[in-house]
Amino acid sequence: MSNYTHAMVLAAGQATRFGTGQSKQLAMLCGVPMVRHVVTALRDLSLSITVVIGHQAAEVAAAAGVDDAYITSVLQEEQRGTGHAVQCAQESWKTSEQVLIVNGDMPLLTHDALQALLTQHRTEKNAITFATTQLADPRGYGRVVSITPGVDSRPSISIREEKECTEAEKAITTVNAGVYVVQRTFLQEALLCLTASSTTGEWYLTDVVEYAARKKRPVGTHHFAAALVRGVNTLAELATAELLLYERIAQQWLQRGVRLIDPSSILIEKTVSLGRGTVIGRGVHLQGTTTIGAGVTIEAYSMLRNAVVHDGAHIYSHSVLEESTVGQGAEVGPFARLRGSTQVAAGAVVGNFVEMKKSTLGPGSKAKHLAYLGDTVVGEKSNIGAGVITCNYDGKNKHNTVIGDRVMVGADSSLVAPMTVGDDAFVAAGSTVTREVPAGALGIGRARQENKEGWAMRKKCHKK
Ligand code: UD1
Ligand code: CA
Repeated sequence: MSNYTHAMVLAAGQATRFGTGQSKQLAMLCGVPMVRHVVTALRDLSLSITVVIGHQAAEVAAAAGVDDAYITSVLQEEQRGTGHAVQCAQESWKTSEQVLIVNGDMPLLTHDALQALLTQHRTEKNAITFATTQLADPRGYGRVVSITPGVDSRPSISIREEKECTEAEKAITTVNAGVYVVQRTFLQEALLCLTASSTTGEWYLTDVVEYAARKKRPVGTHHFAAALVRGVNTLAELATAELLLYERIAQQWLQRGVRLIDPSSILIEKTVSLGRGTVIGRGVHLQGTTTIGAGVTIEAYSMLRNAVVHDGAHIYSHSVLEESTVGQGAEVGPFARLRGSTQVAAGAVVGNFVEMKKSTLGPGSKAKHLAYLGDTVVGEKSNIGAGVITCNYDGKNKHNTVIGDRVMVGADSSLVAPMTVGDDAFVAAGSTVTREVPAGALGIGRARQENKEGWAMRKKCHKK
């Protein structure tokens, strides 16, 4: 195949600097595992990809998406360095023209940046082209050491890992970003000549640059802004990278007709979609597969996870919606909680301090204050009064409640499930109903009121 590029993602490392005991490739940024960010950027270039896995191999492979036909994984059983990782996977790239190698801990990379690097590599016909950036604080990165040719016997360019830098080299602020395009036959040759570092015992991929320079093969560098190529080695760097990604996502939605009030306070995960003319308030967090229609308002500090909100709906502040659907023009909140496949139909209203679990509120129905609806189906145009509770749990099992159309459930009633309230029925305020209320009936389940005349006065006298 002519000019075919195979991509490799290095993701086998231990992530000791993370300190969480977990592979950092699994750390979520904007709802997507770290390794998946790099893989997606590469897939956007239609490249076939090999992910080198090692630490928590199965989980990292799954997070990278190896179920996709273009993504395979190779196990690096012992992690002996980035050069060794590339070597372990050579079966996967040995027929390509060039190999694009990316560290798995670079979630900020974009496909545009990768494309620019590839284009330069092909135009300049380099043996190796790698990405660099400028950092005021270059600690932890390999420094790019350039020497004017002919000054001494050193190679014209090399990457020196920090542990092996002299004090003078440590002051260099141009660093190796961790993305390389290497001509395949040259890579094969260079890998054979790599030796382990005497300091760490690791085989460094970065030594391929020095090898090219010594062999007088053309080496190219491509300079990127740090915000594109930052590596993530610590939890502090993870936090910085995630904020940069959130900022990028927010800017994309602003350009697509979504109004964000105080964008830097709004967290929209990569997997979320939004319609035009929608307004998102301060501090809103939209997660997972959340899908928001057009002309929706989501007020401040609401959190939506895997939720669907249809056009024109209004979510008032401080509402929490998980795995639930809100119909067209419906209203939810403030301080509402919807979970477990709850459905609020078009034009329905869920008010403050109302919790719904695995329940449906039919078109035009209302539950406006302080209610709990669990395992409940409510029909059309019914009203659930303040403080109504469905008693769906008997300590062992959950039971269903079915409330028909145009029903009025009076305030502070308890409906003990399994329970059916027929169409057009009433439940008197303050009732505890344990039997079916038939269609059109009034169900009353409360003690009859009795007034004891003069009782209070007598009690006062008695005290004296
Ligand atoms: C590496 C570069 C350094 C560069 C920096 C940019 C080397 C030797 N150094 O350093 O020049 O400035 O990235 O962020 O490459 N990995 C494996 N197998 C291994 C070792 C590592 O797959 O045996 C993977 C890791 O999971 C990681 C990536 O390779 O995703 C880079 O490894 P890491 O340890 O983070 O390298 P740095 O020290 O950051
Ligand atoms: Ca790194």
